[in-house]
Parts: sequence; structure tokens; C-alpha cells
Amino acid sequence: MEYAVSGKNVATLRSDCVVLVLNKGAEAPQELPAKTRQQIREVMDDGDFSGAQQQTVMLRQPEGLAARRLLLVGTGSQDSLTVPAWGRLITAMARAVSRSGARNAALLLDNLAVAEHDEMALVRESARMLEEATYRFDSFRSKKPSEPMKLRRWRFVTSGTANRLSRAAQEGRAIGAGVRLSRELGNTPANVAIPEYLAEQARSMSRDYDRLSVKVIGEKQLERMGMGGFCAVSRGSEHEGKMIVFEYKGDTGKPLSLVGKGITFDSGGISIKPGASMEEMKFDMCGAAGVFGAMKTLCELNLKLHVVAVVAAAENMPDGCAYRPGDIIKTYSGQTVEIINTDAEGRMVLCDALTYVQNKYKPHTIIDMATLTGACVMALGDQASAVYSNDDDLSRDLLASGEYTGDRGWPMPLFDEYGEQLKSTCADMQHVGGPRAGSITAAKFLQQFIGDVRWAHMDIAGTAWKSGSEKGSTGRPVPLLTRYMMDVAHGER
Ligand code: BES
Ligand code: MN
Ligand code: ZN
Repeated sequence: MEYAVSGKNVATLRSDCVVLVLNKGAEAPQELPAKTRQQIREVMDDGDFSGAQQQTVMLRQPEGLAARRLLLVGTGSQDSLTVPAWGRLITAMARAVSRSGARNAALLLDNLAVAEHDEMALVRESARMLEEATYRFDSFRSKKPSEPMKLRRWRFVTSGTANRLSRAAQEGRAIGAGVRLSRELGNTPANVAIPEYLAEQARSMSRDYDRLSVKVIGEKQLERMGMGGFCAVSRGSEHEGKMIVFEYKGDTGKPLSLVGKGITFDSGGISIKPGASMEEMKFDMCGAAGVFGAMKTLCELNLKLHVVAVVAAAENMPDGCAYRPGDIIKTYSGQTVEIINTDAEGRMVLCDALTYVQNKYKPHTIIDMATLTGACVMALGDQASAVYSNDDDLSRDLLASGEYTGDRGWPMPLFDEYGEQLKSTCADMQHVGGPRAGSITAAKFLQQFIGDVRWAHMDIAGTAWKSGSEKGSTGRPVPLLTRYMMDVAHGER
């Protein structure tokens, strides 16, 4: 999609569709020609449009405008929108516009108010939300959808300075590109998206961007290096596991590090999962997909940052070589782990990735993301990712980035008492606690592998994909992460 910004002459604007956002019961703004306002009043009086949240009404050949269509979109009764409500509004708007034959559309920004967001932010995040709203996962259909989308160009109509605002629109597009990549990888089924597929995607990304390099470590090598945790999980699969290492050199000095869980399919292994909804376990690499998306945006924005990202890509399957409950595994850190349930595989691949990145790259900060526990879904559902951290500033910054983008996080505790559930009778620790506080005990397990470094862990099990009729990857937490990285690069965090 292309984006442009232009000044406010609405009446003469040649557009296939002008979009006006209206509060419940509000009058149309004074800038519109009297005829247009009159027509809007009639539409309201006739009861066709009230301004209720996400309500849309399309008017053809609107009075007083050069545009071919006028779309009214309701915002509900509050004065300023929350960010998630804004996202829903953009989705409803994008649907209504693409259902029409419009090839281009213009959104009047002056009527849009979102708490804590200036005009730059409105343009940037609206563009990002439009990229998200127009994403379709059609790569595996032999018959393409009957009506291809004609819409190619969005214009933001505003009184602000066009230069800065069009840069904001390009930023939004870059973030959207990261989200879309993340969703595409998440949605790609596990018979295609095997670890080597992810490795190849990473290599191909490194060919697109000068500042990005990629190294892939194969399973044999990981075995030789002593990555017992990773290999315990990966050896039950026919598909060779890979540790994928991205390095983005937009700056010198110690790097920021991202780490993602990339279980391409989680059958549970010997502790096999029940059949219901098991197909959703193709999404168990969404932490990795988040890393890919964040790296893509980073490259597109050319941020002045040094970032090293590690993706632990493996498949959790039961075969004759698979690890079993009761096994004692020596991790890359040297610590031994008693396996309780082979379905708790994510923490076993992550612990080695965390040790690796600390030993080799000495990052100042590590952020890992993983679809780690069903318990997290019980606790927070699909609204917020669980955020754990050993550093209050880091935690605050990530939560603020989540609030700003609507890709929300919520803070969770790392009290030492929770860690007592991990005491083992025969090894340094066991990798699973009891039935209570399962997302927290998983985080406590990971913390055993964190040295003297700022660290945050995000359990994205509830947020990374949607189930049911809208089943599909969401691309979270790419908006949160990229907001955080942009702030760090601009010296604001
Ligand atoms: N990938 C799952 C977590 C998951 C389950 C995410 C359902 C989203 C929806 C993870 O590998 C897993 O199986 N975790 C187990 C851990 C348990 C065995 C301690 C879980 O949450 O049940
Ligand atoms: Mn599992
Ligand atoms: Zn898993």
C-alpha cells in the first residue's frame, strides 16, 4: 500500500472515497461544505448512522464533494479512543473501503482523537494498522479470492506539516511490513515451515539488507557445542533443528538481544497433547516470528542500533529417539534438568539460546518472547502478553510501548518463592512446577539461565494468534518491540 499526506481542502479532493470519523451524536465538522454537512445530518436523522463504534455507512456521490464516495465511521460516545478501539475502527474502515470499488481513499485525521497520540503518531499508527487490516493469508489457496483488492493508496488529510507526517506514514508502513512478515511465518503450516525453512527465510532477509547478517548453526554442531536442552527437544523430529542468529549492525557497542521460541510444531512429544485444537500448535513458533518481524522493521527503518537476535527453531515430536519424562539433561549452561513433561519443550530450547547469546555477544539487554504456557492464556487471555523482568525500568518501558501501540503487556512477578516449585530430587532443577502459577514458574526456570544482564521475558501464548473463525497469527508482539527499539534508538529509553 502507498501512503501520502495532504492539506485540508476536502471539498476539491479527488478521491475514490473520503473517510470521516464521527462521534456518537456529533455534528459534521465545519471544514466540510454546508451541503455535505446537510446530507450527513439527514443520514443521521433518518437513522442510517448514529456514530456507534465501528458503524460504517457509505454514501455515493456525496453532496458538495469532488470525491466519489463518503464513508462515515462511528467512534462511539467517548471523546478520545483507546488504542485497541482505534485499531478496530481502522479495521472496520478498511473493510468498508475495500468492499467498495475504491482504488484510493482519504482519511480525514482532524476528527480522530486518541489519548497520548499526537498527529505524527496518528499517521504512523494508522498506516501500521491499515497494513495489518489489509493482510490476508492466501498463499496456500489454489483458487485466489474472487475479488482482488483494488485499493492501492491511502491519503491522510491533515493540517500538520506534510514532510514530517509522510515520514511517519513510511514508518507505519515499515512496522506493518514487520507485522505482516511475522503473521505470514506464523500462519505457514508446519509441513512447510520446518526449521530449515525459517533458516532460509533468515538468509534471504540478510541478502536484502546490508546491515543484516545471518548465521545458522545446525543440530550436529549444537550437539557438539553441548546444547543439551535444545537437542533433547529437537532429536525426536526428522527435521534438523537450527539455531538462527541475526546480527544487525546499525551501531557499535554492546548489542540489544532478542530471543524467540521457534517450535515449528508442538505435538507435546512423548507427553503427547490431546487432539483437540492441536493444529494450532503450528503457531508455536510465533516468538520466532516476532523476532523475524522486528528484525524486518529494524532493517526497513535503518535504526541506529546494534541488535543480535537468536531464534531457537526445532520441532517437538515423539519418536524412538525423543526425550522422555525422567530424563536428566545437561544444558549448555552446565546446569542439569530433570524432565517432567516433554510438552514443556519451549523452556528447554530457550535456556540454551539464552546462555549462548550471553556468552557469545555480551548483550546489555535481552528480551525473549515465547508462546510458552497454556497457563498464561488462562491468566491474561488474548488481551495482554505477560511481561516478566529483572529490571523495573525495562519492564516499564516495554509496558509503555505496549500501551502506546495497543499491543499490550501486563507485569507479572518473579518472586523467588515461585522458584521453589522447580526443586528436583535428582538434578539441579526440574523444568516444570506444579499446576499453579504455570506461566510464572516457566519464567522462573528461564531466569536460572540469566546472568548479570537486564532481561525481560514475554509469554505471548494468548496474544500471538487467534482461534476460532478468525484463526490466524496476529503478528504480536512486533508493534510493542519495534516501538521499544525506536525509542531506544532515538535516545528516549
Ligand atoms: N506451546 C505450549 C503452550 C501453549 C499451549 C500455548 C496452548 C498456547 C496454547 C507449551 O509448549 C506447552 O505445551 N506448555 C505446557 C507446559 C506444561 C507441560 C508444564 C502447558 O502449558 O500445558
Ligand atoms: Mn509444549
Ligand atoms: Zn510449545
